[in-house]
Amino acid sequence: MSTPKRLVVAIDGPAGSGKSTAARRLAQRLGYTMLDTGAIYRAVALIARERGVSWDDEAGLAGVAGGLEVRFAFEGDVNRVFLGAREVSAEIRTPDMNEGASRVSRHPAVRAALLDLQRRLAAAGGVVAEGRDVGSVVFPRAEAKFFLSASPEVRARRRFDELRAAGHEVAFAEVLQDQVERDRRDSTRATAPLCQAEDALEIDSSALGPDEVVARMEAIVRRHCRGE
Ligand code: DC
Repeated sequence: MSTPKRLVVAIDGPAGSGKSTAARRLAQRLGYTMLDTGAIYRAVALIARERGVSWDDEAGLAGVAGGLEVRFAFEGDVNRVFLGAREVSAEIRTPDMNEGASRVSRHPAVRAALLDLQRRLAAAGGVVAEGRDVGSVVFPRAEAKFFLSASPEVRARRRFDELRAAGHEVAFAEVLQDQVERDRRDSTRATAPLCQAEDALEIDSSALGPDEVVARMEAIVRRHCRGE
C-alpha cells in the first residue's frame, strides 16, 4: 500500500467562524501540524515590543518578521508556539498582542516578509494552515481549501458567550454591532482584506457543530489524499 499523500490544507474565515477549532481538530485527526498564521503576526508584535520597534514602523517590523524562527508543536489539545527554544504561547494571547497583531498585519512589507516563513513551514506538506489569506495568497496551490463562514448573529453569540464565560458584563447588541463593524473593516481594508479564494469550498457553520464541520473537511481531504 502506498503512503497517503500529505497535503497542504488551507482554512480561512472571519473571527468567530470556528476556524481555529476546526483547524486544530482536523490537523489532529489527520496527524498533521497546524500552522496558525495569526500566531505568527502576534509573535512579530511581541518581538517588536521587546526590541522597542514601533507597531507603526513598517521597515523595522519587516526586519523583525524576516528574522523570525517560528515552530508549532501539539501538546494534547494545545498548539504550542515557539520562537527558537522559547515558548511564547501565552505571551502572544494577551489583549495587548491582539491589538499589536492587528496593527502589524496591516503593513504590506510585514506580510511580504512572512510569506517565505509560512511557505517554508508547509514545504513538506502535512499541514493545516489557518488564517485570513492562506488559501488566496499564501498557498494558492493548496490541495484543499475551505472558507468557514457563519452569520454575524451566530459569530457574535459565540463571542458573547466567551466574554460572559470570562466574567465580562457585556450586552449582546453591543457585541453584535462590534462584529458587524469589524467585518466591514476586515473586508474593505486596503492590505490583504479577508477574501474567499475562488476555489475554496465554503462551509457555513451557523447550524453545524464543530464535529460536523471537521467531519466534512476530513472526508474531502481524505478523498484528495487518495487522488480522487
Ligand atoms: O487569528 P488571530 O486573532 O490570532 O489573528 C491575529 C491578527 O492577525 C488579526 O488581527 C488578523 C491578523 N491576521 C492576518 O492579517 N492574516 C492572517 N493570515 C492571520 C491573521
